[in-house]
Amino acid sequence: FEVKWDVEAAEKGGYQHFMLKEINEQPKAVRDTLAGRLPDGSDVKLDDIKLSADDINKINKIFIVACGTAYHAGLVGKNLIERLAKIPVEADIASEFRYRDPLVDEHSLTIVISQSGETADTLAAMREAKKKGSRILAVTNVVGSSVAREADDVLYTWAGPEIAVASTKAYTTQLVSMYLLAIKLGLERGTITEDYAEMLKSELRQLSEKIQKILDNQDTVQKLADNNYTAKDVFFLGRGLDYSVSMEGSLKLKEISYIHSEAYAAGELKHGTLALIENGTLVIALVTQKHLYDKMLSNIKEVTTRGAHVIAVALESMREIEKAVDDVIYIPDCAEEVAPVLAVIPLQLLAYYMAVARGCDVDKPRNLAKSVTVE
Ligand code: G6P
Repeated sequence: FEVKWDVEAAEKGGYQHFMLKEINEQPKAVRDTLAGRLPDGSDVKLDDIKLSADDINKINKIFIVACGTAYHAGLVGKNLIERLAKIPVEADIASEFRYRDPLVDEHSLTIVISQSGETADTLAAMREAKKKGSRILAVTNVVGSSVAREADDVLYTWAGPEIAVASTKAYTTQLVSMYLLAIKLGLERGTITEDYAEMLKSELRQLSEKIQKILDNQDTVQKLADNNYTAKDVFFLGRGLDYSVSMEGSLKLKEISYIHSEAYAAGELKHGTLALIENGTLVIALVTQKHLYDKMLSNIKEVTTRGAHVIAVALESMREIEKAVDDVIYIPDCAEEVAPVLAVIPLQLLAYYMAVARGCDVDKPRNLAKSVTVE
């Protein structure tokens, strides 16, 4: 009698793929990344960051530099930091930033986001910013990585090891780090009230449970994936923060299912892309931003009139959206600032189940690598 160990199966903890395991680990990853950092009251505790109140007040521009999924987290970071701390922020793709002679100087703060902390372009961009005198703050998942060692300050995401090439739990914890930083900067600069900071902190504390609620409902998403996996092109639409999440949802789908897909700022569609919408084209519309709800509804109408099949991702309280679209995936109600962390979960699941239905090698998509250490 011989017991045969399948090490990989054991590591997958009963899940068919690492990606699905990692998607399901997000409640814990988010909880761990927030742990100890949200004390009662209005403070945010970021022990590894040595930026003093004086340093923070001297920053006149922030650059966020990253690649791939981490760049998409940076786009949410830009929105949040500008909104809360009133500092102008540029979010840049590392391989562009490093060759465009950016206007970085000693009053700039450069935030580098990298799950692995080893991406060649991100490292090179970080060194370029440092050479120009900028202080460097790294957001990374790997303790002791190159990015962590070379940065002045490090904010660790506590997602745990991420094996699947397509990033999921690293992204949500990068988002959480952006909220922590934005609140911290806003409080230090006096650009947000303590009440507002406390409201956001309370929203952050509820995220883990709300993510779990979405995960408990993943059958719904799987069914939609099974009905739509033969799509040739998929368009993701959103406005504001929903646009940034659309970009991540579209990337997930492309990476692992090889379905051509694009993310569009919903208001931009009519300036060209609407020409690509025909009978049956699949459109995923993100509708989590209450102040943009009516605008999104008219954009949805623009595509349904041309025959698009629309799946909306919307807040539970937006039931009336059902009249305007073919299917809806609901996420729990939340403040619109934190909605990206919830809205991305069904998009990850949709990409995952569509890829599985197409028989793709989900954890190791063709031509891609987990960590790209060449330029
Ligand atoms: C690779 C991976 C992506 C990842 C990107 C940045 O392209 O396939 O999933 O987002 O690198 O990686 P990093 O480790 O710097 O976050």
